[in-house]
Amino acid sequence: MHPEEPSLRKSVLELLSRRRSAHLGRLYYIERGPLTSLEPWVSQGTPTNFFNRETELLQKILPRLRDIATSEGVLVDLGPGAPSSVARRAVSIAQSLAAVKYVPVDFSDAFLGTAAEVFRRELPKVIVEPIRADFFNAKFNLTGPATFIYMGGSTISNFPVFDTTAFPEVPYAGYFNKLCSLLRPGGHLLVGWHAAADEGYALAPYTGAEARYYLETPLRVLTQLEAQGLTVDEWKSESIWHAPSRCVFHGIRAKRDVKVKYAGHTFPFLRNDRLEITPSYKIRADTMSSLIDHAGMRVLDKLGEEEGYSLWLVAKPK
Ligand SMILES: C[S@@+](CC[C@H](N)C(=O)[O-])C[C@H]1O[C@@H](n2cnc3c(N)ncnc32)[C@H](O)[C@@H]1O
Repeated sequence: MHPEEPSLRKSVLELLSRRRSAHLGRLYYIERGPLTSLEPWVSQGTPTNFFNRETELLQKILPRLRDIATSEGVLVDLGPGAPSSVARRAVSIAQSLAAVKYVPVDFSDAFLGTAAEVFRRELPKVIVEPIRADFFNAKFNLTGPATFIYMGGSTISNFPVFDTTAFPEVPYAGYFNKLCSLLRPGGHLLVGWHAAADEGYALAPYTGAEARYYLETPLRVLTQLEAQGLTVDEWKSESIWHAPSRCVFHGIRAKRDVKVKYAGHTFPFLRNDRLEITPSYKIRADTMSSLIDHAGMRVLDKLGEEEGYSLWLVAKPK
């Protein structure tokens, strides 16, 4: 890993050169080494933390999952994420559904590996069938239909707003439909996401106690990637709401002139220069309803807040 791995080196160089399209978020997920850096995010105890909020909501919906459990249940986990997410949520879902098969789908080999490991340890009787795929690759498919899809941890916020072909007034619709088509008729989808209608709701989870995490994580990831010269006291976390794209652009801003070194290059940052970390596209509750309708599905249960963290149970008609 690290500077000698060409695709990774190219991505980090693009990021530090502040090319428009480069951001660190994809590196968090795809590359192997920095993944441990997501753990503190997932396991920290702040009340606004997405991941903790979803775990709380999930506890309330587990009895409902026991009612809809079918024989030969296949649980597909779209974007399993860090091992503690899998242990705290996907494992309880699989137990409640009495699933016989667990299919994590992710473009990160590392997340697939740890998801498989957690399942083999916690639920050794469940067959594990990881699939490496990008959700936006129309060709990806499962070996058989899912009875239950879980897309938690606001993975839908990683969907870039560029698919306007299938359903112009609702971005993401084409991909969302494709993901729902993986379900067999009568199957269910559980989607957990940060619903935000305006700037206040969108920025809330990035401020206060969380801001420190949003500063420390990118610095730690870049340092693990062997960039030198990034220290906490020289940068501040900064999340900006961009209303037209309904996106929070998270970044870090230099508090003074700093020189970052990476792979033999030096990148000077002047005071107030910004480094893009990750975009997070926000979906309003009414947009989520439209997506679900358009995919021919029906909402059964809505947990959480209309604006804030939401967990919805959705059914595909028989
Ligand atoms: C925000 S994390 C959510 C993790 C987990 N579900 C949770 O609840 O904590 C997003 C997950 O989706 C994966 N992911 C994001 N975009 C993806 C894409 N286009 N194709 C496949 N996987 C993707 C990431 O690697 C990561 O595992």
